Amino acid sequence: MLQVEKDPFIRLRNIKKTFGHVVALDGVDLDVCPGEVTALVGDNGAGKSTLIKIISGVLYPDEGEISLNGKTYRHLTPPVAIELGISTVYQDLALVDCRDVASNIFLGREPLKARFFVDKKRMNRESEELLRKLKVSIPSVTTPVEFLSGGQRQGIAVARSINQQGKMIIFDEPTAAMGVGESARVLKLIRSLGDEGFAVLIISHNLHHVFSISDRICVLRNGRLVKDFRTENTNPDQVVGFITGSNQRTEEFRKGSTKA
Ligand SMILES: Nc1ncnc2c1ncn2[C@@H]1O[C@H](COP(=O)(O)OP(=O)(O)OP(=O)(O)O)[C@@H](O)[C@H]1O
Ligand SMILES: [Mg+2]
Repeated sequence: MLQVEKDPFIRLRNIKKTFGHVVALDGVDLDVCPGEVTALVGDNGAGKSTLIKIISGVLYPDEGEISLNGKTYRHLTPPVAIELGISTVYQDLALVDCRDVASNIFLGREPLKARFFVDKKRMNRESEELLRKLKVSIPSVTTPVEFLSGGQRQGIAVARSINQQGKMIIFDEPTAAMGVGESARVLKLIRSLGDEGFAVLIISHNLHHVFSISDRICVLRNGRLVKDFRTENTNPDQVVGFITGSNQRTEEFRKGSTKA
């Protein structure tokens, strides 16, 4: 594995996970650093979603360790992951459609006034500030989210992650169902999170998107992390070679032929 200079936010070691006789993850090591956008790429079934479910505590690994904040865990749970600052923006985004933008950003963490009443004014004001900082433009924080576009909804989900004191933000195929303009806005937002110091992990099948925003590209194939690149040191052809396995076979052949 490539050595990274920064202290990682999270360090996974030898993560294994099987489903019956399917080996989804076969001894994965991965570091995700603050201030970086790490892209996780790989073919269908390579193990990407399984890995992020382990990081967010939804699945438990069969073997391996997860270290963060000076502690080592055998597994996380969703509340522990959130407590540690890990926030996942899922594809369906888990927003409550009929409620407005501010209510979604504060879902489950509503500020109270006079101990019993939800402080709606404060929620609206803080939501507006947060969305302005993230450069997410919406008609109003009192608009129900069902009326918003995919990109705007993504922005609301990110605002909620940050509002939950997230330090690491994970995206699983954030632009999969989006048009060109909307994707560009979401990618810009994800890049800005990396620049602000968040540890960002993004899964994408779109290598053009991956190259436009990532600092590192980690390739999973058949449950193994087969390559960890700095984005500036590689190119799409090389990454595709590792996704499909053709590059690795060439490398093994070269090694074999130098030994001979
Ligand atoms: N709950 C489950 N039960 C049984 N097998 C599973 C389960 N979840 C994942 N798998 C299997 O584990 C392997 C890895 O799946 P995973 O969803 O992590 O892949 P992925 O890289 O996210 O693929 P995609 O790009 O298609 O989303 C696949 O063979 C998949 O069929
Ligand atoms: Mg997946």
